[in-house]
Amino acid sequence: MPSLKALALAAAVLTADVFAWPPPEKTVTVTKTKTETFDKTVTKTVATTYTAHPSCSSTAGRPSKSSTTQSTTETVTSSSSVSTSASATSYPSTSYPTTPAYPFCTSTASFASVDSVHPRLFNYNGTGAKYFAGTNAWWASHILSDSDLDIVFSEIKNTQLQVVRVWGFGSVNTDPGPDSVFFQLLNSTGSYINYAANGIPRLDAVVSYAERVGVKVVLNFVNNWSDLGGIASYNAAFGGNATTWYTDTTSQQVYRDYIELLVNRYKCSPAVFAWELANEPRCHGCNTSVIYDWATSISQYIKSLDSKHMVTLGDEGWFAPADGIGDGSYGYGGAEGVDFTLNLGIETIDYGVFHLYPDSWSYNETWGSTWILEHDAVGAQLLKPVVLEEYGGPPSPDNHTAVEMPWQATVLDDTSLAMDQFWQFGTTNLSTGLSDYDPYTIWYNATEYTPLAREHAAAMLDKAV
Ligand SMILES: *[C@@H]1O[C@H](CO)[C@@H](O)[C@H](O)[C@H]1NC(C)=O
Ligand SMILES: *[C@@H]1O[C@H](CO)[C@@H](O)[C@H](O)[C@H]1NC(C)=O
Ligand SMILES: *[C@@H]1O[C@H](CO)[C@@H](O)[C@H](O)[C@H]1NC(C)=O
Ligand SMILES: *[C@@H]1O[C@H](CO)[C@@H](O)[C@H](O)[C@H]1NC(C)=O
Ligand SMILES: *[C@@H]1O[C@H](CO)[C@@H](O)[C@H](O)[C@H]1NC(C)=O
Ligand SMILES: *[C@@H]1O[C@H](CO)[C@@H](O)[C@H](O)[C@H]1NC(C)=O
Ligand SMILES: *[C@@H]1O[C@H](CO)[C@@H](O)[C@H](O)[C@H]1NC(C)=O
Ligand SMILES: *[C@@H]1O[C@H](CO)[C@@H](O)[C@H](O)[C@H]1NC(C)=O
Ligand SMILES: *[C@@H]1O[C@H](CO)[C@@H](O)[C@H](O)[C@H]1NC(C)=O
Repeated sequence: MPSLKALALAAAVLTADVFAWPPPEKTVTVTKTKTETFDKTVTKTVATTYTAHPSCSSTAGRPSKSSTTQSTTETVTSSSSVSTSASATSYPSTSYPTTPAYPFCTSTASFASVDSVHPRLFNYNGTGAKYFAGTNAWWASHILSDSDLDIVFSEIKNTQLQVVRVWGFGSVNTDPGPDSVFFQLLNSTGSYINYAANGIPRLDAVVSYAERVGVKVVLNFVNNWSDLGGIASYNAAFGGNATTWYTDTTSQQVYRDYIELLVNRYKCSPAVFAWELANEPRCHGCNTSVIYDWATSISQYIKSLDSKHMVTLGDEGWFAPADGIGDGSYGYGGAEGVDFTLNLGIETIDYGVFHLYPDSWSYNETWGSTWILEHDAVGAQLLKPVVLEEYGGPPSPDNHTAVEMPWQATVLDDTSLAMDQFWQFGTTNLSTGLSDYDPYTIWYNATEYTPLAREHAAAMLDKAV
């Protein structure tokens, strides 16, 4: 298990490694005091010494040899409804970053934000509101070759797609060996962060190449589904199940520790478009207050670490009966414990997202445009950007235009959706051949790539604000 050996080694050299970039992981003692029912004061005493912390506002943030070694105490105040307990300190990450091979936080590009004049749109380049398109390539953080990342991001860039959604998670319960990428190993004794070549350096490379090429990434922190770890891998290590995970103290602390690691590592990078709580969080059969409370608390926590990047939830956009939308069928019935309208009201959620897979959800394909219009209307009501974050249909390779072009036309002509991101980008140009794919993949070399990716991205950029 070379990766875990590397962890122990990295920990051992911590004190010597004061000039590493980013600065060594702090050893954090967390004292949590509950001040009010829904407020808590978190006092973090940073026990480790490290060089002056890089400033997020400048690229000169790298620790320099002349900077002084100092001790820092920081106080973070945030409000949260998650109760904490002594077990919070039982599962820290036990290892420390090694010097990354991939420079990040070196770009001078603008940070994306919600536009101040047009609150339903994004300001991507610091030049005002624009409509644009993006895509998904979940696997970009799970490939091992740097030159492949260069190809992926360059192809996406030359398509004029502005944002790529990439899995920021990857957790396992046992070490799969050096050929598989994973970021966290979870077992009954804790959460072990993988800083070996098949771990966090792959995320460093994603952020680095995105900066270099000039696209932005959405990174998420956990998967509802068991692919690449997800909630099931927390359950296997810490107990609980798919629904109790949202309130389980140990799982939530480990999840927060992982968020803290990623957010602090990449918060200086303008290549991060937004942080995303989860991929398709569901709490089947739960009161919608479970996901609402969790999303409120976690998004507040992220904002307490990083006020510069946007935060979104990552859900499929289910409505609940309280919304008074639709015919009460599956997408509107609240069965998955998600209420899109309720959640979009969370102050620390900057924009709403929804997904669209009528073939898997037992709707017909033309209903897709209804689903799009309904989510746009909620965004108009709450004055927030809304993004069609994944869409796919029908599940037949190389044959998506008849179904997806009308959805794209609805987005373009009939809504103010700020962005749409097709599921998913595929390329045949990797050193390993084909990228990971599924029946919804829009291949870079396919005929349908021209209308669905190139022409649509251009049309979105051309759309008048
Ligand atoms: C941002 O600027 C880059 C470089 O000029 C350009 O290619 C891209 O289309 C712009 N994106 C948006 C959303 O304006
Ligand atoms: C959990 O994994 C770590 C890292 O491999 C290992 O050191 C520890 O012994 C494991 N704990 C259990 C209970 O297997
Ligand atoms: C998850 O655990 C809770 C508490 O033990 C239980 O009420 C619930 O039925 C479980 N859910 C599933 C899907 O097993
Ligand atoms: C994802 O969510 C659904 C609905 O709650 C649940 O049935 C499923 O078990 C979840 N997946 C995992 C891996 O927990
Ligand atoms: C769901 O939770 C809310 C807030 O806690 C509560 O007011 C409501 O009665 C609950 N609904 C059901 C159906 O239990
Ligand atoms: C598609 O489903 C919607 C309701 O979900 C229905 O109103 C519509 O008639 C259906 N269209 C076709 C072509 O079946
Ligand atoms: C392609 O899609 C069209 C319309 O959705 C469908 O009628 C046709 O059977 C599909 N062809 C293949 C080869 O899947
Ligand atoms: C990538 O794929 C495209 C389309 O198949 C092809 O034209 C191009 O030559 C490939 N690029 C490289 C570097 O292989
Ligand atoms: C795209 O590449 C794949 C794999 O090499 C190939 O099977 C397919 O025919 C190509 N499609 C086009 C339109 O060139």
